[in-house]
Amino acid sequence: MMSTSGVVKSVPTVIHARITGTGSYLPGAPVSNDDLRTRGIDTSDEWIVERTGIRTRHLADEGVTSSDLALEACRRALEAAGRLPDEIDLIVYATSTPDFIFPSSAAILQHKLGIKNGGAAFDVQAVCSGFAYGLTVAEKFIRSGSHRRALVVGAEVFSRILDWNDRGTCVLFGDGAGAVVLEASDEPGILASTIHADGSYSDILSVPGQVSHGKVIGSPFLQMDGKTVFKFAVKVLSEAAIEVLDAAGLNTGDVDWLIPHQANIRILQATAKKLEISEDKVIVSVDRHGNTSAASVPLALDLAVRTGKIKRGDTLLLEGVGGGFTWGAVLLKF
Ligand code: ACO
Repeated sequence: MMSTSGVVKSVPTVIHARITGTGSYLPGAPVSNDDLRTRGIDTSDEWIVERTGIRTRHLADEGVTSSDLALEACRRALEAAGRLPDEIDLIVYATSTPDFIFPSSAAILQHKLGIKNGGAAFDVQAVCSGFAYGLTVAEKFIRSGSHRRALVVGAEVFSRILDWNDRGTCVLFGDGAGAVVLEASDEPGILASTIHADGSYSDILSVPGQVSHGKVIGSPFLQMDGKTVFKFAVKVLSEAAIEVLDAAGLNTGDVDWLIPHQANIRILQATAKKLEISEDKVIVSVDRHGNTSAASVPLALDLAVRTGKIKRGDTLLLEGVGGGFTWGAVLLKF
């Protein structure tokens, strides 16, 4: 821009962050509700479907880790984006079931992808909000100009932290991974994002075990106050949605697709109702894979992209809520 004195001033160009490819992966064959009964769990297809909408989930074989699932999802996302692994300079990996205490699953994934460019790679721990957190963080890196191409991944082997004798929780979850390539762009992608936490609710959903002196102290299994989680989830998902819509100057009528955390069909329906978004605009895949925690939103996104439901240019509202309690929303042009 030319100033009145004739001095040329550089005007900073806005860097946007856009999703250029999606991918997902579900391990093995689907395990039906009746299969769970066959495995000795005192439940029924009717109870699970009526309360949760879940019909099948996928369970990783022994020895298969979160980063193995992430690897497949990332390969598919890279292929969809037309990118090579070494073009990625940032990996943000959301998980509550990492391969190890350390190193991070992000660093392990970087190696498995064969990336040797020394880019950044780290894990984000926000349980079922992990993908909303990861996308929000990665967008800030890209907008700052420090990084240009990110893989944002959610990958979980929740089957490892379930008490298979607790029918109140074990039927709800599954294993899987989802990923997106997020790139610097001249065109708007992410329009607004928000992330929150309130640690005073940490007791209502947790795995309260610690590893200490070679032993697990406390419980290594997921525990949940289902009814409180339900109410809290619907409340904060609705609030976060309004927050990002307001920030972008849009309203619910502008949303082509709502993609909430795939925990339970009734949470999805109640959230859509509260937001006055019709149910046919809600992406639902929880019936296929159960609650896959941090993987659920990118999984639902990718499945809907690949079936042609979600198209380029659509306005998407992605939302997460989970243990911590944590929650967040990302509004974007796809
Ligand atoms: N199969 C059959 N019966 C069951 C099962 C099962 N898998 N699990 C519990 N029951 C029984 C209980 O024993 C109880 O029997 P009783 O009345 O004889 O004592 C009865 O069903 C009702 O149990 P509730 O726990 O009161 O069932 P509720 O109607 O609250 O539904 C549920 C439980 C589905 C977990 C519900 O609370 C819910 O949807 N909560 C949301 C939590 C959620 O989705 N969490 C996911 C993780 S959180 C997140 O991702 C944000």
